[in-house]
Amino acid sequence: MAEAIRNGASRSTSSVGSVHRRVFMRQAGAIGVAISTLPSAAALAPPAAAKRRLAMVGTGQRGVGSWGAPVVASYAELVEFVALCDVNPERAAVARGMIGTDAPTFTDFDAMVREAKPDTVIVTTIDSRHAEYVCRALRLGCDVICEKPLCTTARQAQDILDAHKQTGRQLTVTFNARHDAGAMKVKELLLAGEVGEILQVTYDEFLDRRHGADYFRRWHAFAENSGTLLCHKSSHQFDQLNWWLDAAPVEVTAHGRLAVYGHNGPFRHTTCRACTFKQRCEFAWDITRDERLTKLYVECEDQDGYFRDACVYRNGIDIHDTAVVQIRYDSGALVNYSLNAAAPCEGEMLVINGTRGRIEMRNFDRQPWKPAADIEIRVIPTAGASRVIPIDTDDEDHGGADVRLRDAIFRPGAADPLGQRAGVRAGVMSSLIGIAAVNSMGERRPVRIADLVAW
Ligand SMILES: NC(=O)c1ccc[n+]([C@@H]2O[C@H](COP(=O)([O-])OP(=O)(O)OC[C@H]3O[C@@H](n4cnc5c(N)ncnc54)[C@H](O)[C@@H]3O)[C@@H](O)[C@H]2O)c1
Repeated sequence: MAEAIRNGASRSTSSVGSVHRRVFMRQAGAIGVAISTLPSAAALAPPAAAKRRLAMVGTGQRGVGSWGAPVVASYAELVEFVALCDVNPERAAVARGMIGTDAPTFTDFDAMVREAKPDTVIVTTIDSRHAEYVCRALRLGCDVICEKPLCTTARQAQDILDAHKQTGRQLTVTFNARHDAGAMKVKELLLAGEVGEILQVTYDEFLDRRHGADYFRRWHAFAENSGTLLCHKSSHQFDQLNWWLDAAPVEVTAHGRLAVYGHNGPFRHTTCRACTFKQRCEFAWDITRDERLTKLYVECEDQDGYFRDACVYRNGIDIHDTAVVQIRYDSGALVNYSLNAAAPCEGEMLVINGTRGRIEMRNFDRQPWKPAADIEIRVIPTAGASRVIPIDTDDEDHGGADVRLRDAIFRPGAADPLGQRAGVRAGVMSSLIGIAAVNSMGERRPVRIADLVAW
């Protein structure tokens, strides 16, 4: 848990006032029942729907940019932030301004839940700390919305399964990749039976040297924080596979290497800002040119010593930039997955082969040529002509996926025809593939999912 340092200075008087008002209303209501037989006009009016009370733990870029500011801007009639928590009190205070809330900030999670009484906690800390906050929030009586990956170790997966079972609270995992336009179309085609039974899948993910390198500057570069990119990044693709195939992974085999970043560098320093090699480093990056990142990270460094622009060539980096994973599913389907974090272009290539046809999808995220569409899907039946489905996407919010995900979570009664809602099972299953892959690399053997947790 976060250290028990309460950030009293940032607690706003208006929020203190709202707590007092709630206490007053409870007391006044009780007195009213006892002494009055004549209901007032106000008592006869239908009660205004209570807003869902949200608290956030982990007020970094994702928390602020995807779950803070847009939620305040678009769902204010449905939800309200009642508290923010982060180990770094300065970042929490900066985040509060960026989100546009006057909710109090905390560094002690339990104190936050006790005092602010949220209905739902949004967990957006670094990956390896998700599990402890998920379990704690569930056990303190809250529902939870957790960023991917749900967890980074098998022990954490078991703790979450146990806490979820014992509390019966709601746990949502925010797999926004299920809301990608291309991923949704693929699911639609599969549900329509276009390929018949799925026999085999190849899924390649490639991050370019802008996006890929960024993981090696940040906390993600250490397995103890991220569980490696096979937990942090591939949790999206492993979840998509589980969802598309509508099957459970049984066994995982993997190989990985660190081929470009970390110890492979020709030189190294601490941060890009301090670096004496920046004139000749292909990964040199000036964080101070980004006002938002400067406020959120550079100006908060004195609190936690976290450098958002650390050297991608640090010697201690222990995650892979290149990996291949094979997954066998209980349906019999066989999957080949690959991840490359230093490619010359960015996107995904997917091939699904089935008994009645084949789907090919190419997701063009960034490349030095102009593709005909942002996403191209080709459907090739075993008999008859093939057809192409071009899809163009929004530039912002992961191609519009984040907006669709937020609507699905915060708009009551939203339909879910493609089964995009993801709960504890989906979250655990996706993480377990990454965890099994890392174990497989370390132990040089296939790893069975059933050996990792007891359901
Ligand atoms: N779904 C997506 O597309 C997507 C995109 C980006 C990030 N994410 C996820 O969002 C989460 C946050 O990522 P980010 O990019 O915002 O990282 P970040 O470094 O910007 O933010 C993480 C925050 O967590 C805080 N923190 C660290 N340890 C903590 C602890 N023990 N208790 C409380 N706070 C703690 C840090 O101080 C920081 O403010 C990660 O889990 C990441 O995987 C998801």
